[in-house]
Amino acid sequence: MSPAGAAPPVTTAAPVTALDQARVLLTGLPEPVLLVDDDKRIRLANPAAAELLGPALEGQGALLVIRQPEQVAALERALSGSPGERQEARLLLTTAAGETIYRMVVHRLAEAHGLRGVLISFLDISHVEEAEQMRRDFVANVSHELRSPLTVLSGFIETLQGPARDDASARERFLAIMAQEARRMNRLVSDLLSLSRLEANERIRPRERVVPAEVLRATVAALRPLIEDSGIQLEIDDATAEASVPGDRDQLVQVFHNLVENAIKYGGAGGRVTVTLRTHPRWPGILGEALSVCVADAGEGVDPIHLPRLTERFYRVDSHRSRQMGGTGLGLAIVKHIVNRHRGRLAIDSERGRGSRFTVILPRG
Ligand SMILES: Nc1ncnc2c1ncn2[C@@H]1O[C@H](COP(=O)(O)OP(=O)(O)OP(=O)(O)O)[C@@H](O)[C@H]1O
Ligand SMILES: [Mg+2]
Repeated sequence: MSPAGAAPPVTTAAPVTALDQARVLLTGLPEPVLLVDDDKRIRLANPAAAELLGPALEGQGALLVIRQPEQVAALERALSGSPGERQEARLLLTTAAGETIYRMVVHRLAEAHGLRGVLISFLDISHVEEAEQMRRDFVANVSHELRSPLTVLSGFIETLQGPARDDASARERFLAIMAQEARRMNRLVSDLLSLSRLEANERIRPRERVVPAEVLRATVAALRPLIEDSGIQLEIDDATAEASVPGDRDQLVQVFHNLVENAIKYGGAGGRVTVTLRTHPRWPGILGEALSVCVADAGEGVDPIHLPRLTERFYRVDSHRSRQMGGTGLGLAIVKHIVNRHRGRLAIDSERGRGSRFTVILPRG
């Protein structure tokens, strides 16, 4: 404050305009923002807008950057609207990194200090749309998976009520198939429940200590009938000396069960499945000591193009074959979630014709 009676200091700087004030505020905003006047000229573009739409935007016509008809229409509507009104449009940008979807919001500003125009902001909604798409796919997949056994069941019910009513041998056969389809639906539903429970507690790391070698032996014992039926030689090569890890026993049973079952079902042609357990002083991406469990088969392997997608829900390389074997394609998705909950890693390597190796690496501390 100037002392009483003294003349105010003389300044030659230009008066601060509304645009200058807006610039100060908008520069710090992480979202891209443009200020466009009534002549559709860009008066201000913050650094995020320059990053998104290119440099030297100020002074250019807005229609040079806003070109898709839906966005132009939103801009026109906003310019002829009243202050406070907002219009929206979608903007799809394709870059080398992929497609990004923005929600463009055009907000009519109240006139201030001679500046009339609209504020355009761009909000990246790609992940929201992606999540929405995943949800839709998921519902479609579940419905599809449930529909096939249901169709079989209702078909047989009709046959049993009609043509096969008095055919005792047909009844036996049909009931066996119906029981199998009902089991399939049951498995699908319990796998789905298992997944949603896992998602709910994925952030809570298990605390009890379990011995993976013991869990594996118990799992293999439960799988004995399947192993014997398939005529496969299963070998456990364990050098962990009963080492323990913080783990959830039931969940580790699920992990080993699915990996060994997969090795038998899809890698059985090799005639041999080997499970190797090792401890490691360190492992990339794991804090402290680690313990690995590797399930290897000598079967036909997986084409590399499928590998990144194997842990997606419902993803099957050969869905017909997997379905015939009673699989729903949820096993590896469950494995991945369980391994994540244990702060571990899942490594998959496979070569067509040479077999596959699924390795679970668990931190020991
Ligand atoms: N050891 C393996 N060798 C070759 N392909 C495999 C192997 N393990 C898994 N796969 C492929 O990965 C797909 C997904 O496996 P996943 O365990 O998630 O589902 P699934 O076995 O089909 O069904 P589910 O486990 O729910 O019974 C399988 O359908 C199969 O195509
Ligand atoms: Mg499986």
